[in-house]
Amino acid sequence: MIPSILPTYNRAPLEFERGEGTWLIATDGTRYLDFGAGIAVNALGHAHPALVAALTDQAGKLWHLSNLYRIPEQQALADALVAATFADTAFFTNSGTEACELAVKMARKYWYDKGQPDRVNIVTFAGCFHGRSSAAIAAAGTEKMVKGFGPLLPGFVHLPFPAHGDELTGAIDDTVAAVMIEPVQGEGGIRPLPDACLKGLRDLCDETGALLIFDEVQCGMGRTGRLFAHEWAGVAPDIMMVAKGIGGGFPLGAVLATEAAAAGMTPGTHGSTYGGNPLACAVGKAVLDIVGDPAFLDAVNRKAGLLRQRLEGLVAAHPDVFEQVRGAGLMLGLKCRVPAADLVQAGYAQHLLTVPAADNVVRLLPPLTVTEEDIAEAVARLDAAASAVTPKEADT
Ligand SMILES: Cc1ncc(COP(=O)(O)O)c(C=O)c1O
Repeated sequence: MIPSILPTYNRAPLEFERGEGTWLIATDGTRYLDFGAGIAVNALGHAHPALVAALTDQAGKLWHLSNLYRIPEQQALADALVAATFADTAFFTNSGTEACELAVKMARKYWYDKGQPDRVNIVTFAGCFHGRSSAAIAAAGTEKMVKGFGPLLPGFVHLPFPAHGDELTGAIDDTVAAVMIEPVQGEGGIRPLPDACLKGLRDLCDETGALLIFDEVQCGMGRTGRLFAHEWAGVAPDIMMVAKGIGGGFPLGAVLATEAAAAGMTPGTHGSTYGGNPLACAVGKAVLDIVGDPAFLDAVNRKAGLLRQRLEGLVAAHPDVFEQVRGAGLMLGLKCRVPAADLVQAGYAQHLLTVPAADNVVRLLPPLTVTEEDIAEAVARLDAAASAVTPKEADT
């Protein structure tokens, strides 16, 4: 018999009722150290007082208002995002997938309005993940994502990751509306794109006119130690997808864009009933006020350095379990020699939550508010988990 919840997830038998900072408390009272943070969503940990206050204050005033009217909380968040980024304008969504949908529509409409309606292709890269809608699965293009869900939305061109030289120049021609890429791949296995590649892509897009879309749904909002990951490379996109951390746990996403890239999105061309609602935007503004503070980002970088250093030590101590540490900031991956899922399971036994990713990687995505004590504790628990999964013959 089908369960009452559609069984699209293989859920761990863990049930939580409360959270405090980096900790989740199970229904039986057991405390788990949360180094998954809802897959990079709980940027400020659980039950952060500023977010609880923003949400409850707004809940007593106004929950929902149609986008037929002005929404002051939405305006405040849009103004703050525009002030803090390359963007001139923002559209709010409820998820990263919806941000992907709009990014694709925006890029195609840009060329349509320029009199090139056939310039529709979106270039994406192996290992990418942009969501689960028809456009987003076509963007990924892998059998795992698309099998059984045809006919696929046409107009996506898939390149290797990272793509080099001729592969790129040959592929980005005058059929390409936009190039879409995660500056640090998340689901693909915590794979950062080298700065030189991001710069090269920017140059190529400038030469050909193709728009550059960064998907910062997972790597954005302070996760890598800058407000957005692309800032490290010193290049800006034309369009950017944001979600996850921007709402700190309240469903919120956004598409940020330059005025030129957004030119086709005139009244009536897009919409969302809930996108940009007062509750989400009040929380989003409270998140941005904290994460956008340079002192907060300095602390993220300091803690990221500490975590990375400790993880390098862990990898050296367990060469039969781990191959390498990779990633940026507090978006780190442990490439495993044993099945990554085994290490995640062994972590559960140590009351530590981590998240598996493709390429046999275990993701560590703690809240950005993680403390040095939390880091030391997590690494000690990972050490115990690694010992538990060490292949037997390596013990001798
Ligand atoms: C890079 C990236 N883009 C898009 C998405 C889709 O976001 P959502 O699950 O909020 O629809 C995700 C989700 O994991 C993601 O990591």
